[in-house]
Amino acid sequence: MAAVVRLVNGSLGVRLGRRSFVRAVAASAGKSLPEKVKIVEVGPRDGLQNEKTIVPAEVKICLIDMLSEAGLPVIEATSFVSPKWVPQMADQVEVMKGISKKPGVNYPVLTPNLKGFQAAVKAGATEVAIFGAASELFSKKNINCSVEESLQRFEEVAKAAKEQGVAVRGYVSCVLGCPYEGKVAPGKVAQVAKRLYAMGCYEISLGDTTGVGTPGGMIEMLEAVKHEVPVEALAVHCHDTYGQALANILVALQMGISVVDSSVAGLGGCPYAQGASGNVATEDVVYMLHGLGIQTGVDLAKLMDAGAFICQSLNRRTSSKVAQAACKL
Ligand code: HMG
Ligand code: MG
Repeated sequence: MAAVVRLVNGSLGVRLGRRSFVRAVAASAGKSLPEKVKIVEVGPRDGLQNEKTIVPAEVKICLIDMLSEAGLPVIEATSFVSPKWVPQMADQVEVMKGISKKPGVNYPVLTPNLKGFQAAVKAGATEVAIFGAASELFSKKNINCSVEESLQRFEEVAKAAKEQGVAVRGYVSCVLGCPYEGKVAPGKVAQVAKRLYAMGCYEISLGDTTGVGTPGGMIEMLEAVKHEVPVEALAVHCHDTYGQALANILVALQMGISVVDSSVAGLGGCPYAQGASGNVATEDVVYMLHGLGIQTGVDLAKLMDAGAFICQSLNRRTSSKVAQAACKL
């Protein structure tokens, strides 16, 4: 759709498509935005891992298939972690074998160690994610080892993955604050991200695990991390506990990030981060990105169907503002 652009100083009258128009206005304010954003859907894993009642594998499979149909390019399917630690993910093999893998879509799974990696590959995973933290106490609570010990375990996974041609994504949790340690230094986040990148992670997802971060904190943290890891290899993973997630994502986009993690219907929370509410809702992220003229490849209506399906299965109200508004309209 063509539009007449009148930039903030009112002096220009150029014909541009709507997407270019919005990005041009943003750029005129000194803030550039990416043309496309890759959304990493973490609902089936991060969204469901904290559910107390076990969700049947067939529901998880149906959710993943609906998300694939909605055009999500990456869907984190499950975790190969200890069932004693996270019982909800104990059906990981059934889920991996049951989903209809859509060509062009990646289905990464979480693997904390070599044991998890081997089981994941056996179940057909072609991409795994290793998950570290910028906080010692969170690392201990989440994966029962220090940050340094976790990085040594991840080295083993990364080495095995390289040998077997399996792609590896890295996570750093608690990048804007820790439920046990409080403030987390941006320099510590940068160090852990640098190590994960050096061991071969093609992308590092920076997790505001408890959702305490603000745009100010996000800018400070990204400035530090960008010194160590190319911005093209960074993703943001925001939780919405304090209602800051979309604002945090927007400043990250303005700083050159073009990969965003989110969870359908805003499901989620971390079993080892008490009080953390859900991830930012994918519906809300897609709505914002499309409003900014940024392409995602996601069909919002189909995505909302997937959100309605999982909320009905969990007997839960959606946390997505966009889905709530659409229901009322
Ligand atoms: P541990 O107890 O120290 O492990 O747990 P261990 O090596 O001493 O082994 C203990 C038992 O676990 C043994 O079994 C192992 O075989 C078994 P047993 O002899 O007692 O029967 N085991 C495993 N079983 C299945 N799969 C495995 C595996 N490894 C060992 N891979 C461990 C260490 C890492 C295993 C444990 O702490 C664990 O599974 N933690 C996972 C916690 C988790 O999944 N947290 C949520 C994901 S992180 C997150 O949500 C944050 C993120 O979303 C980003 C953000 O939001 O910011 C990524
Ligand atoms: Mg998360």
